Amino acid sequence: GVTRHYKFNVVLQNVTRLCHTRSMVTVNGKYPGPPVFAREGDQLLIEVVNRVPNNISIHWHGVRQLRSGWADGPAYVTQCPIQTGQSYVYNYTIVGQRGTLWWHAHISWLRSTLHGPLIILPKHNASYPFAKPHKEIPIIFGEWFNTDPEAIISQALQTGGGPNVSDAYTINGLPGPLYNCSAKDTYRLKVKPGKTYLLRLINAALNDELFFSIANHTLTVVEADAIYLKPFETETLLITPGQTTNVLLKTKPHYPKATFLMTARPYATGLGTFDNSTVAGMLQYERPLNEPHQSSSVKQLPLFKPTLPPLNDTAFATNFTNKLRSLATGQFPANVPQKINMRFFFTVGLGTNPCQSNQTCQGPNGTRFSAAVNNVSFALPTTALLQAHFTGRSNGVYRPDFPSYPKSIFNFTGTPPNNTNVGNGTKLVVLPFNTSVELIMQDTSILGAESHPLHLHGFNFFVVGQGFGNFDPNTDPTKFNLVDPVERNTVGVPSGGWVAIRFLADNPGVWFMHCHLEVHTSWGLKMAWLVLDGKLPNQKLLPPPADLPKC
Ligand code: C2O
Repeated sequence: GVTRHYKFNVVLQNVTRLCHTRSMVTVNGKYPGPPVFAREGDQLLIEVVNRVPNNISIHWHGVRQLRSGWADGPAYVTQCPIQTGQSYVYNYTIVGQRGTLWWHAHISWLRSTLHGPLIILPKHNASYPFAKPHKEIPIIFGEWFNTDPEAIISQALQTGGGPNVSDAYTINGLPGPLYNCSAKDTYRLKVKPGKTYLLRLINAALNDELFFSIANHTLTVVEADAIYLKPFETETLLITPGQTTNVLLKTKPHYPKATFLMTARPYATGLGTFDNSTVAGMLQYERPLNEPHQSSSVKQLPLFKPTLPPLNDTAFATNFTNKLRSLATGQFPANVPQKINMRFFFTVGLGTNPCQSNQTCQGPNGTRFSAAVNNVSFALPTTALLQAHFTGRSNGVYRPDFPSYPKSIFNFTGTPPNNTNVGNGTKLVVLPFNTSVELIMQDTSILGAESHPLHLHGFNFFVVGQGFGNFDPNTDPTKFNLVDPVERNTVGVPSGGWVAIRFLADNPGVWFMHCHLEVHTSWGLKMAWLVLDGKLPNQKLLPPPADLPKC
C-alpha cells in the first residue's frame, strides 16, 4: 500500500437550504464533507485542524483500526477532543477491508454536518465479485436543521425532554423538490442508457432509519458495511443510520424519455423517530445525440415516482434484512466464530431518570428521558477511557464491571415494569485477547418498542439470528445461521425483538458500542468493551501518538 495524506480544516461556513441560512461546522467549507479515498492496504494520514469554537473529534466509521485505537475518534472514549486552534493527525492503515465506509464527527451532535464518504477500493489487480461498473456514485442521506443541532440537543438534555426534529432529509446535502423552497436544491444523477452504476449509499441521518427507492428501476444489493453479499434484487431498501449499502443500478437499455425520482423517508416504529416527509433526487438520462431535441426541456418529460413502504412497515424491514447473506466464498469467507468463550445478554431501550428537585422536566410523567444498556445509562468521563486504561490510571474514570446480563428479568416485550428509572455509570466489559463473543441484544418496550441500530467500533460482527418477542435461550440458538450470516458493523435490533451477534475480540483497545440514533446515544444508550493485549508483540495496542490531544 501507499501513504495518503488528507487535510481537514474544520471551519464555519454559511449554508442555505429551505430558504434558511445558517452558519455550520464543516470540513474544508463543504456540506456534506469531502470524500476520502484509499485502497486496501494503504496508510491514511489525515490532519484535522480545528478552526471553530467547538471541540472536535472524527471517527472513521467501520474501519477496524487494528491496534490503532488512538485513531478511532469517539470523544472521551479513545481520545480527548481536538480543542479550538489545535490539530491531530489520524494515522491508520486499512487492513483486509474494501468497500464503502464513511467518516463523521464523534462528539455531541456535530456529525449532523461533519460527515463524508470513506471509500476503500480493492487492491490493484483485485476486482469486485461483480462486473466492473461504468461509474461509482456516493449517495449520502442526511438531515437538514434550520437551527443549530448543538443548541437543540443541549436544550433537550437540560429540560429532560425530546429534541426538536430536523426540517428535512437530504441526498448529498440536498432536500429536493418535495419540500418548500427547495426545488433548486435537488440532487441529480445523470446517467446513460444501457450501463451499470455502483451506488454507494450511506445513511448519515442523525435519527432515522430510511427506506430508499428509485422509480421504475430495480436495485441489486451487493455489499453492506464494506462486506460483499450474495447479490439480490429489490425495488426498495432499508438503511439504518451508520449503515452503508452498495447497490448496482442497471439503466434502461434505451433513452426512456422520462425522468425518475429517487426518494427516501423513515422507517419508524416508535418514539424518537419521526417522519419529516420525503427527500427526493432525480435520475436523469442524458439525451442521446441522435435523439431530436424536443421543444420540451427535461422538466417537461414525464416524471415517475416510486412508492415507499408505509412508515411502520416492519414486515418489509424484516423481509429485507433476512435477505442479507455474506458472500461466504473461498476468496471472501465468512469466518463466523463457532466456539463461544463468553456470552452476553444486553437489554437495549429507553427509560427515565428522576427529575432534580429544583427543575420541571419535560420527559414522561415529569421525569427526564434516558436510555440504557442492561439498565446502565452510560456517562462519558471527562478524560479518555483508552488513555486511562493504557496509563493504568482507570481509578475514578471507569469501572470494569459492566453487567453481562440485566439485573432484573421481566417480560421485555410485554408490560413494562412500574419503575422505569435507569442507573448511571461508566462501566466497561473486559475481554481477554481473542475471546470469542456471543451477544444477544433484546429491545425492551419500557417506553414503547422501537428498533435501535447498534454500532460496534473496532470490529465487524456476524448477525447469526434475529426474532420478535423475548429471546428464548432454549430454542432460538438452534436456528442460528453459522454458515453465511451477514457481517457488518451496525445492526438494527428489531422493534420488540432481539438480535444475536458473534465476533472475535482480536483487536486490543477500548471500543465503543452505541445506538446510532443520535438522540438515544445522548440519552445513554452506549457502552464500551475493553479488549486486553495478547501475549505476542503483534497482539498489543500500539503506543499513543505524540500529538494525541489532552483533555
Ligand atoms: Cu458512526 Cu460511534 O459511530
